[in-house]
Amino acid sequence: MKGLILSGGKGTRLYPLTYTRAKQLIPVANKPVLVRVIEAIREAGVTDIGIIVGDTAPEIEEALNARDDLGVNITYIPQDAPKGLAHAVQIAADFIGDDRFVMFLGDNVIEGGITDLIRDFSANDWNSQIVLKRVPHKDASSYGVAVLRPDGTVERLVEKPPDPPSDLALVGIYMFDHHVFEAVRNIKPSARGELEITDAIQWLIDNGYRVYPHVHEGWWIDTGKAKDMLAANDQVLMEIAPHIDATAVIEDSRIDSRVTIEAGARVIRSVVRGPAIIGAGTTITDSYIGPFTSIAHDVKVESCEIEHCIVLEHSALRNLPARLQDSLIGRHAEVGGDERKPRSLKMKLGDYSKVWIP
Ligand code: TTP
Repeated sequence: MKGLILSGGKGTRLYPLTYTRAKQLIPVANKPVLVRVIEAIREAGVTDIGIIVGDTAPEIEEALNARDDLGVNITYIPQDAPKGLAHAVQIAADFIGDDRFVMFLGDNVIEGGITDLIRDFSANDWNSQIVLKRVPHKDASSYGVAVLRPDGTVERLVEKPPDPPSDLALVGIYMFDHHVFEAVRNIKPSARGELEITDAIQWLIDNGYRVYPHVHEGWWIDTGKAKDMLAANDQVLMEIAPHIDATAVIEDSRIDSRVTIEAGARVIRSVVRGPAIIGAGTTITDSYIGPFTSIAHDVKVESCEIEHCIVLEHSALRNLPARLQDSLIGRHAEVGGDERKPRSLKMKLGDYSKVWIP
């Protein structure tokens, strides 16, 4: 069994953060989503992993090479342009060979891992297994949905149907045997110009191959948009075991029980309410850090109130006149208020930045 992670794509829905940064490297609870995906695959016993990479290949390789805790063999597979999920399968043919494999979208986060799923697929001779999640009927039209036969196999898949024939949405995790390569050779690009994985799976079904569903009961989040990134951060923060590193410095502060403070962080005259995480080398002074907040490493926070936010590394937030909430702050960003009169706002914003002023 091998693993295939899709980490190319453009990430347009997360601009401006993803102009310069692979979206799969944005951290939830201070760990990149891509690393969480690798860990989920490794925990299921699969250690031979191919990663599809696009324009952001150098920084993905750099970020993964810098870690010594992954415990897997990685083969990078370059994709010249995001030509679709089935195109990614096609270019992975040499890496996969005759093995069966699990394909995982590199920006998805799932509760409870994929060990059961892999066990299920390994114990059967099915040609494919797709992960589905029951969603409210009104939301089903935003997903690819699956219609099942009475015997439990998949009958058909429909992309974003205006009138959904089922509430079972496709989650970004799929299992295949080598017949999928025949399927991707036989499909044509869709109206949006991509080779669609749903068309490849439908081809398998139409040609008599057996495709089984696995209905996932826990949460699953596709972190394509900022709102979803914050939602994934909420969920993961609730699950991680809190820990205060012995080298962290805490002075005149109140720290809740569900708070993680990483090595060398300093919390001075502040309140931190969990679940929250404060990254290595970060300094929090005279501030309030509220629940569901992840502050990455080497950040400076002075005289601010921050709640339900993700703040990336090397940023600085100072003297904010109102509570910063529901926000995603990029790397090396500076957000500040001026205490002196006349009070004014000063900004240096990247393209496509969004700022709301109370
Ligand atoms: P998407 O979220 O569908 O696409 P995207 O990353 O280009 O994002 P946006 O819509 O915001 O522009 O992709 C899902 C995952 O699959 C993501 O991790 C990127 C990856 N991917 C590839 O590796 N190759 C591809 O050809 C496509 C379409 C996606």
